[in-house]
Formats: sequence, structure tokens, C-alpha cells
Amino acid sequence: MALRTIRKMKLNLLVTVVVAVNVLFFFSMSYQGIGIFARRAQQAKYAQQNEHRIDVESGKTRESTPLPTQTVTTLSPVVRRKIQIIKEDLNDSSLTNDAYYPGKRVGKYIMVNPDLCRDANKIDVIIIVHTAPANLDKRQRIRDSFAKQSNFLPFQVRVAFLLGLTSNKTLERVLWFEHTTYNDTVMGNFKDDYHNLTLKGVMGYRWISEHCANSRFVLKIDDDVLINMYKLLYSFLNHMNGKRKSIFCNLWHKNTMPILRTGKWRVDPHVFSHKQTFPYDYCSGFVVIMTSDLMRPLYEAAQTTPFFWIDDVYLFGMLPSVVGGVTYYNYALDKNMTLNDKVAINCTTQQGPRCPIFATFISNQAYWPYWELIKGIYSPESWNVENKLVT
Ligand SMILES: *[C@@H]1O[C@H](CO)[C@@H](O)[C@H](O)[C@H]1NC(C)=O
Ligand SMILES: *[C@@H]1O[C@H](CO)[C@@H](O)[C@H](O)[C@H]1NC(C)=O
Ligand SMILES: *[C@@H]1O[C@H](CO)[C@@H](O)[C@H](O)[C@H]1NC(C)=O
Ligand SMILES: *[C@@H]1O[C@H](CO)[C@@H](O)[C@H](O)[C@H]1NC(C)=O
Ligand SMILES: *[C@@H]1O[C@H](CO)[C@@H](O)[C@H](O)[C@H]1NC(C)=O
Ligand SMILES: *[C@@H]1O[C@H](CO)[C@@H](O)[C@H](O)[C@H]1NC(C)=O
Repeated sequence: MALRTIRKMKLNLLVTVVVAVNVLFFFSMSYQGIGIFARRAQQAKYAQQNEHRIDVESGKTRESTPLPTQTVTTLSPVVRRKIQIIKEDLNDSSLTNDAYYPGKRVGKYIMVNPDLCRDANKIDVIIIVHTAPANLDKRQRIRDSFAKQSNFLPFQVRVAFLLGLTSNKTLERVLWFEHTTYNDTVMGNFKDDYHNLTLKGVMGYRWISEHCANSRFVLKIDDDVLINMYKLLYSFLNHMNGKRKSIFCNLWHKNTMPILRTGKWRVDPHVFSHKQTFPYDYCSGFVVIMTSDLMRPLYEAAQTTPFFWIDDVYLFGMLPSVVGGVTYYNYALDKNMTLNDKVAINCTTQQGPRCPIFATFISNQAYWPYWELIKGIYSPESWNVENKLVT
């Protein structure tokens, strides 16, 4: 017990020091006229970050949550067979045993707030945003609009932003300041890189299992998306309510999506070498809703399902297929979500609360005008009325 107390004291001291350092840093930055949060962050270009080396300084870990004790479950023959097929398809002998399974590769958190979901018994929606370290402005606009708690009461909405490591020391300090200011960033111990998005997703499954299991639904999004949260809560929630082990997303059906051999999504020829299409149902990953009962099973499946870097396929296809018994509901592109913000804005303008689109990829210029339009339609007084209209 004494040891525990000392550990706690050490941790508190560390937190104090980190906060103090960050505050000092912030003022010195402001003094230099850099204006961190007002400043437009540079476009996230994962590729440009590739060449930087990662160097995690010791002592920066504010909270190191131990990995959950390994459940030594014996896999059922069915699951073992599924994993065997995946291993044969992936045909990857380059990874060492630990790196092979994302669930084992996601180590300690570099930043985490274990209390993010603790101030309410039930959370309705936890929003998980995959974001790149440099995208400060995208995170801020999300905090100030569709993830802002007070906008949606009595519904309980929370947000957590998932980050990897950056080698940019200046940015790293800004991220610590952001963390101590908003308490809503979760940083994993892996390089923030396009090819590591699978790890980010698995970290999300893990974080929710550990720290936000009291949420009913998980909304996973990218940071360049706008969600009509009113529409989601007042209309789509009626459709999602009561369902278990379910995923709501733009669904790509199994054996239909081509495995590309060139370009950005190029899969090496020796991987899935006998297949032309992905043999799993999976989602467009930019907007995916899941029932939270799936989080722990998906995280556990990631302990035994080998790594595949295309995160949409791994997180929303392979892992659910290993878990089994998962139901997909198609919130189809151009019906319930869209990649074209003009379509979304048109739809909301013309149909108001009856517009069936709740999510869109969004340009920087369109973000605030569209959010103001939505807010105008769903003023608090009209909610109850609209809720009766729209089911
Ligand atoms: C952040 O979370 C910690 C742990 O729950 C808490 O002690 C601290 O007051 C929070 N800070 C802010 C700014 O909310
Ligand atoms: C590092 O981050 C800072 C703050 O975001 C930015 O101004 C600077 O351009 C970045 N440096 C590099 C080399 O990307
Ligand atoms: C993913 O993260 C790990 C751990 O930081 C790193 O070693 C690896 O290079 C990263 N992968 C890519 C493609 O950057
Ligand atoms: C597996 O990959 C190796 C190269 O790493 C290749 O020689 C072999 O043909 C591949 N097997 C299949 C079935 O694609
Ligand atoms: C999705 O869009 C379709 C077509 O616009 C609509 O009929 C359906 O009700 C929407 N789904 C939900 C769950 O609202
Ligand atoms: C928006 O609505 C107008 C009027 O109905 C239509 O003419 C236009 O083509 C629509 N634009 C898009 C991008 O859907």
C-alpha cells in the first residue's frame, strides 16, 4: 500500500511538472507570436512525416495503464480455422511474433485520460476521431460543434482523439498542452503514419473497452468529416436502438471490392495472391457506428489476428469476421452519408430534418456554414417536435 501511495505521489508530481512545463512553453510560444491554436495547422501529410525518426523520451508518460491481463482463452476450432485462412492469405513472414498481432503491438498510452467517460452513468455516443498530430484546427472545430457536450443534452456525447507519435518536438509540446487543456487526446506508442492506422484503430477498441465501456454506441470518424449529431441522435438512434453486435456503415460486400495492385492502396503481389477481391464484408472507414458490446471482442480478436495495414479492411472486416455473429446495416453512400459536402448541404437545405444524410466528408470552407445551417434547423425548442416528425 505504501508503495502504491509513493507511486501515486510520483505520478502527481510528474503531472504537475508536465503541466508547468507546458504552460511555460505556451506562454513563451505566445510571446514569440506563434499563436498556436489560432494558427491553421498544416495539412496532415502522413507521407511527409515518414522520414522523421521517433524518439520517445522517458518520463513523458502521464499514465501508463497496464495491459489487461491476458485472457488465456482457447480459441474455438471455427475461429482457429478463420485465423488460419487469414494467415495464409496475408502470407507475411516478415513480422516477428509480437509485431504480428496488432493487439499485442499497441503498448502503453503516451497520453490518456481514464476519466473521460466517468462523469455520467451512461454515455450515448463516444466519438472516436482518427486524427494526425498536426491537425489541431480540425480537432478544435469538432470540439466546438458536433462533439460539444452541452449542445445535445440530455443525450450524453463524448469525444476522444486518437494520435500516434510525432517526431516534431515543437508539435509534441503543443500536443501536451492540448492534452492538459482538453483532456480528450489519446496517444499511442507508435509512429503516426498512414501504414499504422490499423494500430490506431485497435488502440481505440482497447481504450473504449478499458475506459468508456459505459457508452452505448461508438462513432468512429476521420477528422475531415462533419456529423449532423442531431440527426444521428434524434433519428438514426431509433433505428440503432436495441441492436447488439452491430455495425452501421457504408458497407462493401464481401468478394466485390477489388484488391488493388497499384497506387496508394497497393497490396503486394504475394499478399492475397490468389484473390482479386477482399473476402470480407467491411466498411468505408470514414464514418462507422458500432454497438459498444463489440469493443472488447474486437480488441481480443486483434490479439490473434495478424496485422494488415489497410485499416478499413482489418478493423471493420477481418476482426468482425473473426469475432463472428456481427450484423452489418448499410448506411449507404449517397443515401445516409456522402463524400460530397455539396450534396449534404443541398439535402439539408431542401429537406431540413427529413434529409436522410447524417454524415459527410467536408471541405474547410464549408465546415462552419454547414454547421450553422444544421444548428439553425435543430434549435433546442424544435427538437421534440422534429423527433415526433422524423423517425
Ligand atoms: C483532466 O483530467 C484529470 C483526470 O481526470 C483531471 O484531474 C483534470 O482536472 C482534468 N483537467 C481538465 C482541464 O479538465
Ligand atoms: C513542427 O510543428 C510546428 C508546430 O505545429 C510547425 O510549425 C513546424 O512547421 C513543424 N516542423 C516540421 C519540420 O514539420
Ligand atoms: C508504425 O509504428 C512503429 C512503432 O512506432 C514503427 O516502428 C513503424 O515504423 C511504423 N510504421 C510505419 C509504416 O511508419
Ligand atoms: C508467399 O510469399 C512468398 C514471398 O514472401 C512467395 O514466394 C510465395 O509465392 C507466396 N505464397 C503465395 C501462396 O502467394
Ligand atoms: C437512409 O437513407 C434511406 C434513403 O434515403 C432512407 O430511406 C433510410 O430511412 C435512411 N436510413 C435511416 C436509418 O434513417
Ligand atoms: C443542389 O440543388 C439544386 C436545386 O435543387 C440543384 O440544381 C443542384 O444540382 C444541386 N447540387 C448538387 C451538388 O446536388
